[in-house]
Amino acid sequence: MTKITSPTESAIEAAAKAINKGQLVSFGTETVYGLGGDGRNPEAVAKIFAAKGRPLFNPLISHIAGAEAAFALGSKTAIAEKLAAKFWPGAMTLVLDKTPNNPLCDLTTAGLNSVALRVPSQRQALIFLTAANCPIAAPSANRSGRISPTRAAHVWDELGGCKDLAFILDMGAATGGLESTVIDARGEKPIILRAGAVTADMIITATGVEIGHHQGGGIISPGQTTSHYAPSKPMLLNRCQASSDDIWIGFGDIGRNSILNLSPAGDIIEAAANFYDMLRRADAMEGAHIAIAPIPDEGIGIAINDRLRRAAAR
Ligand code: TXA
Ligand code: MG
Repeated sequence: MTKITSPTESAIEAAAKAINKGQLVSFGTETVYGLGGDGRNPEAVAKIFAAKGRPLFNPLISHIAGAEAAFALGSKTAIAEKLAAKFWPGAMTLVLDKTPNNPLCDLTTAGLNSVALRVPSQRQALIFLTAANCPIAAPSANRSGRISPTRAAHVWDELGGCKDLAFILDMGAATGGLESTVIDARGEKPIILRAGAVTADMIITATGVEIGHHQGGGIISPGQTTSHYAPSKPMLLNRCQASSDDIWIGFGDIGRNSILNLSPAGDIIEAAANFYDMLRRADAMEGAHIAIAPIPDEGIGIAINDRLRRAAAR
């Protein structure tokens, strides 16, 4: 039975024990809610894939409480060191080569020679990671392909009652609202695998190096398949008006009088924080399509537009 609880000291303790027993715990972070299990334990990680209906070839991010613990799992590079110093704890995931004797199980890394690592900044998430005292593999706590959860109630809607999910730690609404920036930091140049709050400009400033690109085609980050983050209604992007059959999500002055507006003030950071919650609410309303106002393609708006293209693809 899933227990939804505020992250008191005793609840965090009980949740950490559940992780150590191989059960699953959903916890809030500053980006989205994660569905966590002990990243070293193949049975626990198998429960994550089963609960989400996630394809096994899509590797998970391992969460740890600090950079030192991260570099025990992934080999430090000059780029990684600079990025970690600047953006951890925070909304950044680094892909690094697996260290020798790495304790993460093959299911966590989908059998790759690389690992994805993140130190979140959410205070109670860090306390939880410290209490569990192991790397916690955690994808977003939604069913595969669906809208990511930014509140405990969203997790309940997606996975509540799942027999392997022992706790949902209610850390309140996620302040960031979009998944972390995933950066391949193995080479001479940082490569962005997934856009997020840490933007290309920020990465260039922190490293003093330009952004690289992978040679050739093929999917480097297996989660970057096109259709993702999808509501059940079809999406219409960049709409400056909407038909009365459609649910219109506004931004700033565009759609000022519609029921849903990502940020009436036109604040892109507020828009990111509201994004998944409003998609979810729009999906539950009566209407043929979800129409969404144009979002400026700057800062975290780049990541919002990335998610919108994937939500619209089918
Ligand atoms: O903000 C976030 O990153 C959230 C919170 C819970 O931390 N987590 C999250 O996890 O979004 P998930 O599993 O939904 O996304 C992980 C992404 C996927 O696109 C996956 O393919 C990529 O990271 N990834 C994981 N390991 C990788 C690897 N070794 N090489 C390349 N990409 C990897
Ligand atoms: Mg996800």
